[in-house]
Amino acid sequence: MSKITINQDLCSRCNSCVEVCPAEIFVSNKEDIPTVLDAVADKFCISCGHCVAICPKNAIDHKNFQEGRVTPIKQELIPSSDQTREMLRSIRSIREFKDRPVDKELIEEIIDVARFAPSSTNLQTTEYIVVQNREILNKIVDLTYSYLAKMSKLLHNRLISSLIRVVLPKNAEELISYGLKFDRYLKAQERGKDKILYNAPVLIIFHANKRTPFAEANANLALHNAYVYCWSLGLGSFYTGFVVQASHQNSEIQRLVSVPSPNKIYGALAIGYPRVRYNKWVERKSPKIEWI
Ligand SMILES: Cc1cc2nc3c(=O)[nH]c(=O)nc-3n(C[C@H](O)[C@H](O)[C@H](O)COP(=O)(O)O)c2cc1C
Repeated sequence: MSKITINQDLCSRCNSCVEVCPAEIFVSNKEDIPTVLDAVADKFCISCGHCVAICPKNAIDHKNFQEGRVTPIKQELIPSSDQTREMLRSIRSIREFKDRPVDKELIEEIIDVARFAPSSTNLQTTEYIVVQNREILNKIVDLTYSYLAKMSKLLHNRLISSLIRVVLPKNAEELISYGLKFDRYLKAQERGKDKILYNAPVLIIFHANKRTPFAEANANLALHNAYVYCWSLGLGSFYTGFVVQASHQNSEIQRLVSVPSPNKIYGALAIGYPRVRYNKWVERKSPKIEWI
């Protein structure tokens, strides 16, 4: 059976499917209904759903987009460019959380929105682990502090810093200065402060099969969807880069949260109810742009 068929009675011959299909599965017949290249569809359709989403007459029957899998867009709910710009300018990393859990339903909703991010050839490679268990969160913090301690020791080593200066002359000083930055984190740890997850009640880990092309980009795009959506829900979040780096250096974090092999952690978002609220947005660096 064909993966995609066009209902002759419904098709308006607008050729929109021909225009939008990235796999060139539809061939225009001008005034007649387009031809579906079955062999091409079987081999190359990426199930992006552009054909069913654009068809004005619901004339396309796609095996992967049967009833309930295609939903009309509520145009009145799409924010304006002014609203979107103001939102994107005002979202900040939140590191001050209330001692309040986040409902499971809300976390499910965040992940539901994350999965709509673009992914290479629509492979939707990203998988999610939600950590709420306080003991495990604390263990992640400890393991990440241990990673910072190890890095600090390396960066303070004279031989290693000399080597960095030879191998990476342009970025050496900045890289080496991280040793001092890490020391400040470690001092905070001595004072019993969590400067890794900042006592966030939730950590969503974004992971994927490391052998899939663009797995890292896909995961981080999904993470950004989640980040923006958290803000719209009145939740705060921040990207826990140190946890991600620590997980690459020490497989204990991967094991602790049961990341299956051959998956790798590509992003981690700490989430909770914010204790702070920003009323201003501040300037960023002017973008460095080359026009060609
Ligand atoms: C890849 C990446 C890694 C980050 N890692 C951390 C982190 O480990 N700890 C932290 O407190 N903030 C982390 N952040 C947040 C940045 O510090 C923050 O985005 C930046 O200072 C700009 O502030 P804003 O997000 O509030 O606009 C990270 C952000 C990115 C994009």
